[in-house]
Amino acid sequence: MLQAIKYSQGHLEILDQLQLPFVENYVPIHSAEDGWHAIKDMKVRGAPAIAIVAMLALASELHSMGTKGKVPKTAEETRTYIAKQLEYLVTSRPTAVNLSDAARKLGSVVEARANQPGADGHDVVAAFIQAAEAMMVKDLDDNQRIGRNGAEWIMDNATRPGASNVAVLTHCNTGSLATSGYGTALGVIRSLASKNSLRHAYCTETRPYNQGSRLTAFELVHDNIPATLITDSMAAALLADPSVGVNAIVVGADRVAANGDTANKIGTYALAVLAKHHSVKFLVAAPLTTIDLATKSGKDIVIEQRAASEVTSIKGPREGDERVVLDTVRIAAPGISVWNPAFDITPSALIDGVITEVGVIEKGADGQFDMDRLFKVSAPA
Ligand code: MRU
Repeated sequence: MLQAIKYSQGHLEILDQLQLPFVENYVPIHSAEDGWHAIKDMKVRGAPAIAIVAMLALASELHSMGTKGKVPKTAEETRTYIAKQLEYLVTSRPTAVNLSDAARKLGSVVEARANQPGADGHDVVAAFIQAAEAMMVKDLDDNQRIGRNGAEWIMDNATRPGASNVAVLTHCNTGSLATSGYGTALGVIRSLASKNSLRHAYCTETRPYNQGSRLTAFELVHDNIPATLITDSMAAALLADPSVGVNAIVVGADRVAANGDTANKIGTYALAVLAKHHSVKFLVAAPLTTIDLATKSGKDIVIEQRAASEVTSIKGPREGDERVVLDTVRIAAPGISVWNPAFDITPSALIDGVITEVGVIEKGADGQFDMDRLFKVSAPA
């Protein structure tokens, strides 16, 4: 299986996604600062992956402080240091809630350990490292469950009469490269393929950053899944084509608000509008950690704005060079101004279901999602 994150205690490496699909290069992450830059620069991206890398980056830093005898003596000093580093890590990217959620949860673990009688700095560090490692293991398990739940829902609710397989369109990259492994929306596609229920997968290019053509296409080819790449502007024509017969669009999420409004990669909203027009099921696949009950609706979600250069330039390998050298080529007219929101909000009215590790959340008779009820049933940590 493709691995975006390689970790053993004290050693963290990430696959540099800026160089994919041309070069597979792992870079070491020694500290919270290394982790912050890798996330900000998008060497690693995808909501679950950035949360995991941030926490493991700090775990690696703390491990190395331990081996160098640099852990503060008292539990309280260590707790304060960890809290400061968590606060810093959270500033790397604002939209995905997984990162702040992980920081809050691990901050609580550390606080609880620090408050235990007799605890010293090393105890607090050990508690943090253990919780960060557990996060990575749980994410993989959650993704496999999301894959199964989503595949089952689609086969039950989105197949055409007499058909035994489906065609699915996805957006951005939500696979092994965006998580600890397997993926969310791409995990659903993987699960359908493993059951021989997938007729074909379609992935969008996902401009401007091309997570679809660079990363999702790379994963689909790697796994031998029957798949075709389209540009974002081809989605309407694809859905209108009866010979293609797309059954469902499945996307990931960076933050799902309490009412079901969903922040995800720019272009997701457009696909949801198209799905409604063509009566195609539109599904969001995400772990419970992406559902943010503290955010009432999409209006309250901060959308990250990124550099103009992502829109005005593209990056690719230099022709005819034996070594792979990536060049940046300007494609837009010099002087033009640029708007580059990294995400958009899909209103819950356009979403048929949210696929999670504990099941698929559907709307009630009132046409509203009740996320709160789901959390009460599943009581996540
Ligand atoms: O800007 P990115 O590449 O981090 O955006 C990624 C997405 O929007 C994904 O769909 C989302 O994070 C879910 S990844 C399982």
